[in-house]
Amino acid sequence: MLDAIRWDSDLIRRYDLAGPRYTSYPTAVQFHSQVGTFDLFHALRDSRKALRPLSLYVHVPFCANICYYCACNKVITKDRGRALPYLQRLEQEIQLIACHLDPAQKVEQLHFGGGTPTFLSHDELRQLMAHLRKHFNLLDDDSGDYGIEIDPREADWSTMGLLRELGFNRVSIGLQDLDPAVQRAVNRLQSLEETRAVIDAARTLQFRSINIDLIYGLPKQTSENFARTVEEVISLQPDRLSVFNYAHLPERFMPQRRINGNELPEPAQKLEMLERTIEQLTAAGYRYIGMDHFALPDDELAIAQEEQTLQRNFQGYTTHGHCDLIGLGVSAISQIGDLYCQNSSDLNEYQNTLAAAQLATSRGLVCNADDRLRRAVIQQLICNFSLEFAAIEQQFNIDFQGYFGALWPQLQGMASDGLIALDRERIAVLPAGRLLVRSVCMVFDAYLEQQNRQRFSRVI
Ligand SMILES: C[S@@+](CC[C@H](N)C(=O)[O-])C[C@H]1O[C@@H](n2cnc3c(N)ncnc32)[C@H](O)[C@@H]1O
Ligand code: SF4
Repeated sequence: MLDAIRWDSDLIRRYDLAGPRYTSYPTAVQFHSQVGTFDLFHALRDSRKALRPLSLYVHVPFCANICYYCACNKVITKDRGRALPYLQRLEQEIQLIACHLDPAQKVEQLHFGGGTPTFLSHDELRQLMAHLRKHFNLLDDDSGDYGIEIDPREADWSTMGLLRELGFNRVSIGLQDLDPAVQRAVNRLQSLEETRAVIDAARTLQFRSINIDLIYGLPKQTSENFARTVEEVISLQPDRLSVFNYAHLPERFMPQRRINGNELPEPAQKLEMLERTIEQLTAAGYRYIGMDHFALPDDELAIAQEEQTLQRNFQGYTTHGHCDLIGLGVSAISQIGDLYCQNSSDLNEYQNTLAAAQLATSRGLVCNADDRLRRAVIQQLICNFSLEFAAIEQQFNIDFQGYFGALWPQLQGMASDGLIALDRERIAVLPAGRLLVRSVCMVFDAYLEQQNRQRFSRVI
């Protein structure tokens, strides 16, 4: 049963280590500054030659208000005029990248993320999409997966109508928590009515899929008040839900310093919240996809998982893992064949570099043979909860147990603890191990020992 997860508090306490979320392997922590535009052009040429389909990610960094918990790359400003110079540079970047690709390469997936993409005015959104359509082969028959992140405080019916008209057919809505005390503690006041209005609009306008983001572990949250949020959210019937664990790293994210540490729930309370959330969602018919994500059984992610075609990239779980991912905008990450590269995360640097007619690539990584192999192993585990050694052996021409022999004692330990089933042919992540799948992936991560684990948030 793909949707079977078993809650085992003991195992969770023992295996809940700080670790990466594996939206890539190697993770972005490994990116270095020796990778630059030369590598990017090289990768784009390969992509063009192979005519690989594309997935575009466009980052719009602006938000009008600050949410104290936020760990995203964003710029808080009330000055809507700041969008214009950014968009000019973004359009330049689109043009510079697109001229290295073939117009025959179809854009199967498009995602606008942020920050808050609808910080842009209707005219700006229209112009940006027209520019993308001019330079890339965007599908105009609604067959692509074209999504956008929506903050309901920054969108109304007319915004939703415009987005549908521009070709978007998926929305991801930030909600986080509905309790007024929690909302005040994180400076994000958003009524259920505001959220419902956006969802009603999305349904009426026939957006294909609606995702809602929640966060557990925020200040003033309790198991009871979070359960009420989850109940209300279930009544909104989103197709997908992301239930993120609040990552409190105030030394890295300045706004989090405005959160009162004494108001944060204890780890035991957070576990209770997650356990109850899973019970509620499962009872309402949602399936656990993996790593914070839930979906209704008829959603594409759930279907892809059942068909074992699910993949994972910087946008989380995806059915478009075969595409080259082109990241556009400040801090955006691309994944093109064996190359990962990231634009500068500093808005001024990004804009100034493009103003000088250069791409703003600042760091990245080219996968070596070992990275490719481990990437495939981690993908299988995190997407399918299983790993057939023969498939990896064939693909990479290795003997699995010979290559990973040193890891066997650790894997056997996980097997005797009931996280995984391990035999000579496969690893299967058992129901009690599914919430901890990232701990299983971590066994195969060659870089982890070298890193400071404190950089990462805990698994749960
Ligand atoms: C770019 S925001 C979504 C779009 C829009 N800006 C909004 O807030 O509605 C992406 C999501 O990341 C999640 N997020 C942000 N900071 C986080 C943190 N520190 N820990 C866990 N999740 C976080 C939130 O759920 C948020 O909805
Ligand atoms: S959660 Fe969304 S709206 Fe809030 S600061 Fe972060 S990116 Fe902006």
